[in-house]
Amino acid sequence: MRTRVLGSDLEVSEIGLGCMGMSQSYGKTDEKEAIYTIHYALDNGINFLDTADMYGNGHNEELIGRALASYTGSTEVIIASKFGIVNGDDITRRYIDGSPKYVRSAIEKSLKRLNLDHLDLYYIHRIDKTVPIEETVGVMSDLVAEGKIRNIGICEASLETIEKANQVHPITAVQSEYSLWSRDVEAAILPKLTELGIGFVPYSPLGRGFLTTNFQFEEQDMRRFLPRFQDENLLNNQKLVDELTKMAEDMNLKTAQLTLAWVLNKGEHIVPIPGTTKISHLNDNIKAADVVLTAEQMAELDRLFDLSAIQGTRYPQILMEELNL
Ligand SMILES: NC(=O)c1ccc[n+]([C@@H]2O[C@H](COP(=O)([O-])OP(=O)(O)OC[C@H]3O[C@@H](n4cnc5c(N)ncnc54)[C@H](OP(=O)(O)O)[C@@H]3O)[C@@H](O)[C@H]2O)c1
Repeated sequence: MRTRVLGSDLEVSEIGLGCMGMSQSYGKTDEKEAIYTIHYALDNGINFLDTADMYGNGHNEELIGRALASYTGSTEVIIASKFGIVNGDDITRRYIDGSPKYVRSAIEKSLKRLNLDHLDLYYIHRIDKTVPIEETVGVMSDLVAEGKIRNIGICEASLETIEKANQVHPITAVQSEYSLWSRDVEAAILPKLTELGIGFVPYSPLGRGFLTTNFQFEEQDMRRFLPRFQDENLLNNQKLVDELTKMAEDMNLKTAQLTLAWVLNKGEHIVPIPGTTKISHLNDNIKAADVVLTAEQMAELDRLFDLSAIQGTRYPQILMEELNL
């Protein structure tokens, strides 16, 4: 697989592996299969793993730590993790903490769980509106100087926040939701990142599995709580995916591959991190890196998934309020 560069010099495979679903969110998980999937990814061109301290309340970082410990191949792994969302007993009790004291304690816990002495990329998972971003990035800059992290990232941040953060320390990557049905970043964020030389890491690039032909809910699946997966919204949005699938079939591609190819074709500084727990899906996703789309095909997809065509917000109101829009 080819590589792409985030920021000035963080070279990663052009597709990463999102590991969240191995610990939470989309139904049952199986640790053995998850570790096998991570090893398979590392042996087949992917070297960029995405996790966060809050995924499974630390379980996801521990799982990656175990996968790295039992990995016998030669790939040098690039690990990205995140801090700042503090889980409560339920969603109404979770909160955001970007205070320097919290950052210092969070990095130590993440490094311990992953059994690493540094992270390649450390993201602020959500912006703490009670702490100036300069303070949060300031302490992260100290962590770079101390060798605990190599690069700083920031998730779901506004233009203003990105610019302020980048003045304190060069930001290597912004991570936000981006896919055919989540295109809000296109208007202002993506051009600004290009201008500032900051990489972009789209999360949920397969629309949390909706922009594939595999989509189904299990019990305990967090997608049940997302407005665009509910009732009339779901029916409306499914029509667009049916069109997408027709287009993919005409091109002899899987729907997921066309979905990922569209993201990859949006810019050289973009590195999507599709999440999967299955080797078969991983293989499809790896092959998406070789799909070449014409300007006409890109334009057709842009037209089909025009912002106004999608019904329902990407999070329920309580989680929309956490975003720094
Ligand atoms: N910064 C943030 O706030 C944030 C938020 C959410 C996620 N993330 C990160 O982004 C990563 C990816 O996002 P995501 O997992 O939410 O969504 P996603 O990558 O858009 O979709 C994942 C879903 O798609 C399915 N899938 C994957 N490849 C497929 C294929 N080729 N064909 C059919 N189905 C396929 C997976 O099921 P199978 O397991 O069955 O393959 C899973 O249910 C996460 O793992 C996490 O690291 C970050």
